[in-house]
Amino acid sequence: MKGVVLAGGLGTRLSPLTRVTNKHLLPVYDQPMIYYPIRTLIEAGITDILIVTGGASAGDFLRLLRNGAEFGLRRLNYSYQEGEGGIADALRLAEDFAEGGSVCVMLGDNIVQSSIGAAVRNFKRQVSGAKILLSEVPDPQRFGVPVFEGERIIRIEEKPSSPASQYAVIGVYMYDNSVFEIIKTLRPSGRGELEITDVNNAYIASSNLTWDVLEGWWTDAGTFDSLIRASNLVAEMRMRGGA
Ligand code: G1P
Repeated sequence: MKGVVLAGGLGTRLSPLTRVTNKHLLPVYDQPMIYYPIRTLIEAGITDILIVTGGASAGDFLRLLRNGAEFGLRRLNYSYQEGEGGIADALRLAEDFAEGGSVCVMLGDNIVQSSIGAAVRNFKRQVSGAKILLSEVPDPQRFGVPVFEGERIIRIEEKPSSPASQYAVIGVYMYDNSVFEIIKTLRPSGRGELEITDVNNAYIASSNLTWDVLEGWWTDAGTFDSLIRASNLVAEMRMRGGA
């Protein structure tokens, strides 16, 4: 399975930090933000990786990451997103890269404490469809939130004002190749973007979505509060000798 790291967008919630650079190049403790999702994919055995970015700082990704030798990779792949059409719009650019296969997509501002390896292995046993990962959070209204009927997710609500559960759908998604057909059917949401939650809801509609709960902590880093939280969590992990 190939990996895709989505690192586009304007990062407006972090302005003015993002006025002259891309959010995913900002520091999280001792490393640029984008290092974390790349390392998470590699740790799970995914080494053929596409970085999708955009905007005026796109060239800085190449200068920073080069061919990925620092991560033990022989090369990295890059794609450029025109405009800010949202997460699902950025994923569209991975269609040729996927070469008919499945993909593990990770948002460039998501940081996880532990391995996603078990979920990746579970997904590989799945014949078709998608898998999402959930994490229990104190503020689900900031995220995609699953609505359960027993053990089954019947729908995901994007940033609901009254969340139906305490779980966030984290920014790690595994999709079979039909994801690219699904994206073609999407319409922009209220915020003018093609939403990844709509992709996941399409898989739910065809009873083809599974979920796992992620172990350990998870955070995004796209707001001032979550950015410092991410740095503090990583600092604490380093102090305890974690990778
Ligand atoms: C996006 C997704 C949301 C998900 C979150 C994880 O939100 O739309 O469903 O829970 O990433 O970080 P965004 O950060 O684009 O607002």
